[in-house]
Amino acid sequence: MKYGPDKWDERYGVDEYVYGREPNLFLKQNVKVIPKGNVLCVADGEGRNGVWLAKQGYSVTSIDFSQNAIEKINRLAQRNEISIKTICVDLLNYDFGENRYDGIVSIFAHFKVEEINKLHYKYFNALKPNGVFMMEVFAKEQLPLKTGGPKNISLLYDTQDIQNSFPSGKIELLKKDIVYLHEGNIHDGKAVVVRAIIRKPLDKEN
Ligand SMILES: C[S@@+](CC[C@H](N)C(=O)[O-])C[C@H]1O[C@@H](n2cnc3c(N)ncnc32)[C@H](O)[C@@H]1O
Repeated sequence: MKYGPDKWDERYGVDEYVYGREPNLFLKQNVKVIPKGNVLCVADGEGRNGVWLAKQGYSVTSIDFSQNAIEKINRLAQRNEISIKTICVDLLNYDFGENRYDGIVSIFAHFKVEEINKLHYKYFNALKPNGVFMMEVFAKEQLPLKTGGPKNISLLYDTQDIQNSFPSGKIELLKKDIVYLHEGNIHDGKAVVVRAIIRKPLDKEN
């Protein structure tokens, strides 16, 4: 991603929730496709998505490498009277294990294509059969827009990049969309995103 944890700590070192406290709309509209159970929320920032998922009855683990992010997730969880497991670690060095999660949710987590290929391979292994990977990221067309996302084309995607990173996944949705984001002050206005819902096939389908 464009910043290290110190930069994210700086961004999150304010009382306000810079991406808001409401969940991402794509996640909210599609959550039903994730089987009830364990969900991993990667690069969860201040926890708006992880905490909301826990309120829907999922057992949530949120990961982020910013300590300020983790503290804000824990505060938001407390305020909502739910419990959530938080891990402060660099996703690129983390062992996600195998067949552990019913869902992995990745909202606006931007890495170079080589890195997402490695990460998504690990996510796929960490999903249980029938588990779902759900993602929203900024598309390459977002580069000139001032409504959020990295200002580096190598951290933005086409649908093909995401398809290539899940060679054995069952693609239930993969498309580029123009959306109007209202997620705090940073994601605000017309944006171009890639949205994906990819399921790990049941063993018998492999
Ligand atoms: C654009 S924010 C999105 C936050 C959250 N998903 C949301 O939608 O509100 C990207 C997040 O990724 C986290 N992040 C970036 N690189 C990471 C890494 N290598 N390991 C763990 N977290 C990372 C940052 O700390 C930041 O919270």
